[in-house]
Amino acid sequence: MAKHAHSQWSSRMGFVLAATGSAVGLGNIWKFPYMVGQSGGAAFVLVYLACIAFIGVPILVAEWMIGRRGQKNPINTMAQVARDNGHSTNWAVVGAIGVLAAFLILSFYSVIGGWALAYMRDAATGAFIGLDKAAIGGAFEGFLARPAELLTWHSIFMLLTVVVVALGVSAGLERGTKLMMPALGVILLVLVGYAMTTGSFGQGLAYLFNPDWSKLDGKVLLAALGHAFFTLSLGMGIMMAYGSYLGQEVNLLRAARTVVIMDTVFALCAGMAIFPIVFANGLDPAAGPGLVFVTLPLAFGHMGGGLVIGALFFLLLTFAALTSSISLLEPVVELIEERTPLGRVAATLIAGITIWALGIAALLSFNVWSDVKLLGMNIFDLLDYATSKFMLPLAGLGAIVFAAWKLDQQGVKAELGLGDATFGLWTLLSRYVAPVGVLFVFWSNL
Ligand code: PHE
Ligand code: NA
Repeated sequence: MAKHAHSQWSSRMGFVLAATGSAVGLGNIWKFPYMVGQSGGAAFVLVYLACIAFIGVPILVAEWMIGRRGQKNPINTMAQVARDNGHSTNWAVVGAIGVLAAFLILSFYSVIGGWALAYMRDAATGAFIGLDKAAIGGAFEGFLARPAELLTWHSIFMLLTVVVVALGVSAGLERGTKLMMPALGVILLVLVGYAMTTGSFGQGLAYLFNPDWSKLDGKVLLAALGHAFFTLSLGMGIMMAYGSYLGQEVNLLRAARTVVIMDTVFALCAGMAIFPIVFANGLDPAAGPGLVFVTLPLAFGHMGGGLVIGALFFLLLTFAALTSSISLLEPVVELIEERTPLGRVAATLIAGITIWALGIAALLSFNVWSDVKLLGMNIFDLLDYATSKFMLPLAGLGAIVFAAWKLDQQGVKAELGLGDATFGLWTLLSRYVAPVGVLFVFWSNL
């Protein structure tokens, strides 16, 4: 195996920002507001917060803790930490599922990142001005039908991701998120500020925060659980890889609290920015996948200042997607770098080109290959389905079961700085509540 000095984050804050950048993504800006709206407003928010606290946080901390102990890529880390604790190195499979999931997810995530780039240009050049709903919907469908155009934007997005990751952990990932996250926060605040001027801010808030407990059922609980998993970037080797660059001085529970609060604040603010615009323009808040690429452009094309607000919105979406895509590439690059003689730049190029090529198959499933189906799904949907429904819960379950049942728990108690009472709570959550919660999601997907 090639010997590389293992990288480190340059500061605690750089690490926390990078982890927050990974967490804050399309899941916050598009999916969360839409799920809230469809699932009973504040009732859903409360269930979701409980899932984050009782299931998301233990798994997040477990992945960081394992990564920090292993100081390697997720596969070698799992093998190493298992060996150190007298267990089978077959636990490496947990890391392998995670890295494979990251590899597959990035291929189609980059395609959507490309859409955000394309729509930023369209919004800025006034392409939506004066168009009606049918025309905007038609424009989106037309865009998806042109493979060459999708390929161009997918390639640009992948190139941006590769450049940042090639620069390394502290000069690339850390500096990239340090630049993008504050911009993300400012843009989101500007958009919330704009939403306050639409005259429908109250209606948007009510939609988000008015509890309708009657809508709460098993399906909503499941959706909240699944989203808690996705929104914190769990089960894809990301947090394990990020943990491998950590020093002992970082307090994992405190870092988890910061990441989780920031992720939630971004999600809530996205809802507060989007829904007032939707209501002020008489549009449907539950439009689903079309909300960001059809409903909002419609609003941008009809409102004063829509050029600037629209361009800002898609810039926000692009940055959010980019800070997540670099985190998806990292575990793959870390693996190649450590298992081959290749250096950082070559490893990033090889991983990037391979994932880019798979992304072409994903983008062709919107047009030329739309009839190519496996298990009734096109390639894009199949990639999404296999990863989010199976690989992520499986890798997350493996990480939490390993940390809670296979590591010396007195060592864990000391590492997390827990007292007797809080350690009791940690044991309850990490050994029982979190694994059972993930099993529940996994089983219901079958
Ligand atoms: N956590 C990101 C979000 O909420 C999604 C994501 C998925 C990020 C996979 C990285 C990898 O949008
Ligand atoms: Na998120």
